[in-house]
Amino acid sequence: MNMYELIVKKKRGGELAKGEIDWMIREYTAGRIPDYQMSAMMMAVCFVGMSAEETKDLTLAMAHSGDMLDLSAIRGIKVDKHSTGGVGDKTTLVLAPLVASLGVPVAKMSGRGLGHTGGTIDKLESFTGFYTDLTPEQFIRNVNTIHIAVAGQTANLAPADKKLYALRDVTGTVDQMSLIASSIMSKKLASGADGIVLDVKTGDGAFMKSLDDARALAEEMVSIGKLAGKDVSAVISDMDQPLGSAVGNALEVKEAIRTLKGQGPEDLEQLVLVLGSIMTVKAGRAENTEEAERLLRDSLESGRAFEVFKAFIRAQGGDPEEAEHPELLPSAAYQEAVCAERDGFVSDIRTEEIGRICLLLGGGRETKESAIDLSVGLVLCKKKGDAVKKGEPLAVIHASDPGKLSEAKKRLLEAYEFTSQKPEAAPLIKDIIS
Ligand code: URA
Repeated sequence: MNMYELIVKKKRGGELAKGEIDWMIREYTAGRIPDYQMSAMMMAVCFVGMSAEETKDLTLAMAHSGDMLDLSAIRGIKVDKHSTGGVGDKTTLVLAPLVASLGVPVAKMSGRGLGHTGGTIDKLESFTGFYTDLTPEQFIRNVNTIHIAVAGQTANLAPADKKLYALRDVTGTVDQMSLIASSIMSKKLASGADGIVLDVKTGDGAFMKSLDDARALAEEMVSIGKLAGKDVSAVISDMDQPLGSAVGNALEVKEAIRTLKGQGPEDLEQLVLVLGSIMTVKAGRAENTEEAERLLRDSLESGRAFEVFKAFIRAQGGDPEEAEHPELLPSAAYQEAVCAERDGFVSDIRTEEIGRICLLLGGGRETKESAIDLSVGLVLCKKKGDAVKKGEPLAVIHASDPGKLSEAKKRLLEAYEFTSQKPEAAPLIKDIIS
């Protein structure tokens, strides 16, 4: 078999056979297919697509490219959650400790930023000393003792996806349904959880811009999960504006901490409760989502969820003092407001552009080798439907570089649109697929 021929076959609309996909993934993981040929293949897939059969074969080939974690030493039904990627999506930071605070074993595998979207691992690294390269033994021990562990993708867990994810991130080949479905599900199948809740984002800030595409992606992932014997549900949620107010690594951690103390933005709290209720029911800790939501709200209000968050930070090498005093977390040298130039109502926020502004400030990667500036980003003061007066701040930009700050201010102003009538609010939760 030869990679050149497979690239040309895909480019001409051909369907790759299981043997060809298995070979390609095995050879790429072993370093015998160079990145430039795999980039060409990924781009061909973006233009031509993959069938459901190819997507399933790619998922299984990537899941089996390394170890399949055995979590049977963890007591209870293990649950995991994964987002397809959004802007300001700090859901896991709140959801994982919240669900764990009910005694549900949260065995979570997370990723780094991808394209214009942020990643949980990068955000958590805002805590001094925090690490996610847990050994399987540590991972299991932490879930058994404090009910929560969040691990990054180790070299041995779906290594093919790890390499491809980093490659897609910098070659403009992220937003393809089969590539997203196989990337997410390969990790979830390899990481051993029994129940999985997928947060499928739709809208301008998501990879799936339309609701139809998001639904197709959700159905594809749920069906791959079922084939593999997992209990999978998908929630389709709005990404036509950033989730919450903060966008950028440490800024999002600070907002997550406020949410864990019951002082977070309404949309973030609502999403966390919806996803958390489904996870809690899957784990058998509540009869139905109404009972689960009551338990979760109680845990937020009583401060139990925040206590679990601090225990989790400590268990993975971080300093829980930084959670008690978020002002100790990274903070940018320059913080400047961008003010409205007219009165009106916010009718639209170009969400992908907000993610790209964060990248411009240094909050994401431009190449595989780029280092992230954890301190930078934006905090939105106005969201869709809000009334604005000329001169009022729309957002505050956090920057480390004055040149990037002024470019970000200009682009932020262009990312907002206004009308004179208050626009109708769109629902945050669009659909739930089980
Ligand atoms: N999250 C992933 O893990 N992979 C993707 O391709 C997109 C979002």
